Parts: sequence; C-alpha cells; structure tokens
Amino acid sequence: MPSGTVALAFSGGLDTTVCVPLLKEEYGYDDVIGVTVDVGQPDSEFAEAHETADALGVEHHVVDAKAEFADLCFDAVQAGATYQGYPLGTALARPVIAEAILDVAEAEGCTGLAHGCTGKGNDQLRFEAVWRASDLDVLAPVRELGLTREWEIDYADEKGLPVEAGNEGEWSIDTNLWSRSVEGGQLEDPGYQPPEAIYDWTDAPSDETETVELTFEEGEPVAVDGDAMEPVPLIEYLNDLAGSYGVGRTDMMEDRMLGLKVRENYEHPAATTLLAAHEALEGFVLTKDERDFTEDVSQQWAQKAYEGLVDHPLMDALNGYLAETQSKVTGTVTIKFEGGQARPVARESEHAVYSADAASFDTETVNGIEQADATGVAKYHGFQSRLANASKPELKTDGGPTEEEASEE
Ligand code: ARG
Repeated sequence: MPSGTVALAFSGGLDTTVCVPLLKEEYGYDDVIGVTVDVGQPDSEFAEAHETADALGVEHHVVDAKAEFADLCFDAVQAGATYQGYPLGTALARPVIAEAILDVAEAEGCTGLAHGCTGKGNDQLRFEAVWRASDLDVLAPVRELGLTREWEIDYADEKGLPVEAGNEGEWSIDTNLWSRSVEGGQLEDPGYQPPEAIYDWTDAPSDETETVELTFEEGEPVAVDGDAMEPVPLIEYLNDLAGSYGVGRTDMMEDRMLGLKVRENYEHPAATTLLAAHEALEGFVLTKDERDFTEDVSQQWAQKAYEGLVDHPLMDALNGYLAETQSKVTGTVTIKFEGGQARPVARESEHAVYSADAASFDTETVNGIEQADATGVAKYHGFQSRLANASKPELKTDGGPTEEEASEE
C-alpha cells in the first residue's frame, strides 16, 4: 500500500470531493492536498474549491497559471489551431494544470498524483501524459474504482461530505480563458436545442455591429485598437467585447480520443476573433504554397493539442515551421462583429505579398510584364486535359449495355 501525501487536482466538485476520503481509505495515503490551478475560471469556482477543502480539512493550494496558459493560447493562434471547429480551450489548459500540480507535488514531497476524471473522457489522458513522465504514482479513483455519479452522491451523503448532493447544476461546465464548455444533462441528446440559458459569455447576436483593430507581431496578438496589451487582459477584453456581439458559439458533435462521439457546446469569443484575424493576416503575407502547407500544419498541431501532447516531438517540428512563417505575420487586421460573426474587413502589413499594380485592372505593364504576356500561358493552360479528353473512350449514355447485349459480346 502506498503511503505519504498525494496531490489531488481539486475543484471542489462532487468527483474530486469524494476522492479525498477514498485516497486514504482505498489507497492508503496518509494525507491529501488539493491543488486548484487558475487558468481563468470565474472567482466563484475558487471560492467553492476553498470552502470545500476547508470543510474536508484538506490543505489547499491555488496556483496562478493564467499567463502561461495565455501564452499557449497564443501559440494556438499562430498555429491556426481548431479541432473539428473547437478552439481547444479545455485541451490546452490540461497540460498547464497538470504541470502546475506536479510542481506543487514535488515541492511538497508528495508520493502520488491524483485526478477525479472518469474513464470516458479526454482529460484523464491529458493529465496522465504529463504525470507519467514523473516518478510519482498516478491515481484515478473515479475510473479505477468504477464510480458512478449515483454512488458518489450516496457515498458523500453517508460520509457527510460537503457536497450539495446532485445539485451541481444542470450541465457540466469547464471554463478557462480560452473557452467555456457546456455538456451533459439534456445536452447529451443531440436533437435537443440548447436554451439561451447555457450561454454565459455570449449574448444572442443582434443587429448591432462594431469594428476592432487587432495588431499582430510575428503571429502574436499584441494590441487592440492601437493599445498594447498583455495576453491575459487582451483575451479577457476580447471575450467581453466579441461575446457581447454573440461571436464564438459552437454546437458540435466531437470525436473524443477514445472514439466516443459527444455533443459539445462551447463559447470562445476571443479565440474566434483572434483566429479569424490571424488567418486574414496570413492570407496577406504568406505565399499560396505556404498557406496550403499551413493548413496541414494547423490540423496536425490541433490534433496533438487535443490529445494534450503539447510537448510531443512533432509539436517541436511544427513549431519550427511556424517560427519561420510567423516571422512575416506582422500587421493589423480590422474585424467587424456582425451577425454573430467576426469578419475581417481590412488588413495592413509591411510584409504583404501583394502588388496593387500587378492585380489592378487599371495598369498595363508591371515589372516589365505586359497583359499580353499571359497569352502564352493561356494557350498552354488545360493542354493536358484537352489531349486526354480527345482520346477518351466514348461513354454509353444509356447506362451501359443491357444483359443481352453484354452476353452477345
Ligand atoms: N470535450 C472537451 C475536450 O475534451 C471539453 C470537455 C470539458 N468538460 C466539461 N465538463 N465541460 O476538450
């Protein structure tokens, strides 16, 4: 049996609360410390975690990882990363949280690390991918003991644990700077239309519009309307602003890592806005070939980020490519919030791969190239398909030979 102290990823919710006595009774630990990592949750969540830890008599640590998390969100902007349309808030936060808990565990001389994730979701995999690189024991009581919600509620009741049994709200919500996720309850029915009440960051889109200027330096957002801002306040500001125009709602079927499809709802106004602006700027400063290749890079980056493997060697390689392309992604994009969308409406950059003269209908000769020079290109264009089509066997238009015709042949 293990002994010593175990560091538990602690939210004060039902799962992590029942983990506290179970880690002692079932696993044999002498002590549990709860660690809550701040990645931009609402204040009420810290208050809940703190109160619950107090009531349980558990030492509670809160670690502020917002700045580090915001940096990772900006890496995701540079990578143009979305997974099946979701900007990866929960996924990006998990490795940051796991690292912070590991740091506390090491500093406090813990022998184990525990989380309250079930065996169905992604988060167990994301936490453990980080923790299993350490020498500490990794425990997942909810998964390992096969706990159900109902069992947890009864157990909490029996033990007099500080949870309002079964009354944690209608939905399971996960909030951080980059996104707010709402799942469970009636939303598990893909045919059920989410009521307005599930949204907290976004208002329903109205007829009102507003524009905002976003400045990027080497792919990183640095200023809003000309005012320099640090990543955390910049994201918070855009969540408020874009959210008030109903920007950044996603209702999707998501393919989890274990293969389960789940119905997810997300709010991510800042992410949607920054990703749209960044893509618009890339469209201005990158060549077509770079833009095409970047799509593959974005997809691979998002996949690894979804898996919680931000330190995978492939990520280093992808980041190497991105460092090269992003060196040109400096400039300003104007975004218009309109009808729930964040639409790029203007862009400026000193690195634009763009010649107004060359593209204009009003100029005849640019860099010594005349309009008439395209004639040769036009003659060759489609040459191969003309040859292929000219020698193509004739297709029967009546759907092919009848059985009789076929047997005669
Ligand atoms: N399915 C999402 C992900 O794995 C988010 C899940 C968030 N959890 C929640 N209880 N709302 O990235």
